[in-house]
Amino acid sequence: MSVYDLLISIIIQTMIIVQQKIHLKQMLIILLIMLVLVITIVIGWLIIIVMNNKEMECDERELKKMDWWENAVVYEVYLRSFKDSDGDGIGDIKGLTSKLQYFVDAGVNVIWLTPIFSSPMEDFGYDVSDFYSIHYEYGTMEDLEDLIEKAHELGVKVLLDFVCNHASIASQYFRLSEGRSPGYEDYFVWADPRSDPNNESNRLVPSNWISEFGGSIWEWSDKRQQYYLHQFSRTQADFNFRNHSVRKELQNILKFWLEKGVDGFRIDALPHFFEGTLEDEGKYPDEPLSGDVTASPFEIKYTDRRYTKDLFEVYDVVYEWREFVDQWQKDNGAETKILLAEAYTNITNTMLYYGDERNRSGVHFPFNFDFINKLSDMSSARDYVYVVNHWMSYLPYGRVANWVLGNHDNSRMATRFGTNMVDGLNALTMMLPGVPCYYQGDEIGMENGHIPWEDTKDIRALRLGNEDNYEKYTRDPARTPFHWDNSTSAGFSRNVSTWLSVSQEYRWNNLEAQVKADKSHFKVFQALTKLRKEPALSHGNYHLEAMTAHSLLLIRYLDNYDSYALVFNVGKVDDEVDLARVKLMKMPAVVYMCSVHSERRDGDIIPSGRILLKPGEALILKSLRK
Ligand code: GLC
Ligand code: MG
Repeated sequence: MSVYDLLISIIIQTMIIVQQKIHLKQMLIILLIMLVLVITIVIGWLIIIVMNNKEMECDERELKKMDWWENAVVYEVYLRSFKDSDGDGIGDIKGLTSKLQYFVDAGVNVIWLTPIFSSPMEDFGYDVSDFYSIHYEYGTMEDLEDLIEKAHELGVKVLLDFVCNHASIASQYFRLSEGRSPGYEDYFVWADPRSDPNNESNRLVPSNWISEFGGSIWEWSDKRQQYYLHQFSRTQADFNFRNHSVRKELQNILKFWLEKGVDGFRIDALPHFFEGTLEDEGKYPDEPLSGDVTASPFEIKYTDRRYTKDLFEVYDVVYEWREFVDQWQKDNGAETKILLAEAYTNITNTMLYYGDERNRSGVHFPFNFDFINKLSDMSSARDYVYVVNHWMSYLPYGRVANWVLGNHDNSRMATRFGTNMVDGLNALTMMLPGVPCYYQGDEIGMENGHIPWEDTKDIRALRLGNEDNYEKYTRDPARTPFHWDNSTSAGFSRNVSTWLSVSQEYRWNNLEAQVKADKSHFKVFQALTKLRKEPALSHGNYHLEAMTAHSLLLIRYLDNYDSYALVFNVGKVDDEVDLARVKLMKMPAVVYMCSVHSERRDGDIIPSGRILLKPGEALILKSLRK
């Protein structure tokens, strides 16, 4: 029986009862009152329905559906050090496949694999000899196919590293080019020696350009009787991007891996794609000297790099690749394939990798290395706010921001900032708008390992450093194996000897211990990846300010949803902050989560007013909608 029927029957019953006792006039008054009552109820209902609809429309508009990568958590897998399945002391694809569930548990939905292609491993895979095959120490093509399939079943996307600035001199391309095989003559950047006006028989390098790993960018080929150009080590010859066959071949490589089902690529070393061209007199122009008195003539800092870095032609290549990948996606009815760019350059150049602000798009995002290059354990809360705002101010409209805390080329995040900063930094990068990118081990706060000079493997340190100063250059300490547990070789390999020795830190800092502990960096990381799904974080606005020189405040808020605030002391002393200033949030608030060394507990109520934060202490507060 509906409410309407009920009302009618009440009215009729009342009428029957009162009919016998009261006058017609009185009855009419009662009827009138009842009518007013019914009308009021109906109008009330209508108002509620209309309001509800409005709220839903409004929510739908705000919660625009996001593509899979827009609110992702990206995780770099340095494959060689992630998990070894066959006991040779070297990480491999099968090892990684055996750990896929880990990403689901951690809340990571995108993994980027460092290069897996055939390589002499002088630069650990960043010197590719065959772009279409898997390096034998890492496994087989079937292993990769299996990895992609299983990852996709678990909802994890897989990105490969596209190392396309250069090829190994062991590659077929280089051999053919060095031998001047038809079609390959100009595959690389070849140049004649510059003549020595004082001695005709002397051979001089074509220009004074310097390579990233030290020494001249030019290397002599006896076979071809010419120099070839290498921006990195002499075993990594730079492709000639002005050659159409090279551009075509690089697209073929992209297509090959797209057909294998990968979800996108991290593109390596973009600012190095192009170099200056010959000038009128048939000479390459020299770069002016930088005047940096700390630089030796062997080092990259010695010259001002106007002909060897950031040449604008690179953007044409990137926009071309984006079109290619988008077209492939359309033609194959596939999900979005993404491109990420590695470009250490200034902010204006960086933002151009996104697109040209008119109609051409580039990569989905170029890595934001500001947390690596511009912040350290010396930074104040004001520096943090300044650095974040700097990036956000240059970010073109409609593009997705990103935050990188570490990678295989830099000292580990926990080492650079200090271990008490791990949770706060993970929280900050997870809570800012955009995509956070982590390096394996950041989630458990791994620190740099220690690799002595005698065991140094990194080509950069071997080329640039010596026994006394190699620590300034070596990237090995950030690349030691992952700490799974406290068994042999930290559970990375059943072999006691591994390609880079395991850091002794694994005995007290490893994943298994952190999973068992009540509070740990890993548990904080898990809570954060979950928190990112909250509408205030995925779709909301943000407010960032320095509350004092030491403590920063980040608020994420969205109408009709719970708001979250991060209060984080990045300083080295206790700091008192006044939460009464958190205007965008309703106080008191609840502690959603806090850094491991905080004495507060999840669920604690924090009243408005002054609170004390320890160095590195981070609190995530939740205020309730109503
Ligand atoms: C990128 C890689 C680095 C490598 C270099 C040369 O910067 O991240 O590891 O040495 O490119 O390929
Ligand atoms: Mg192995």
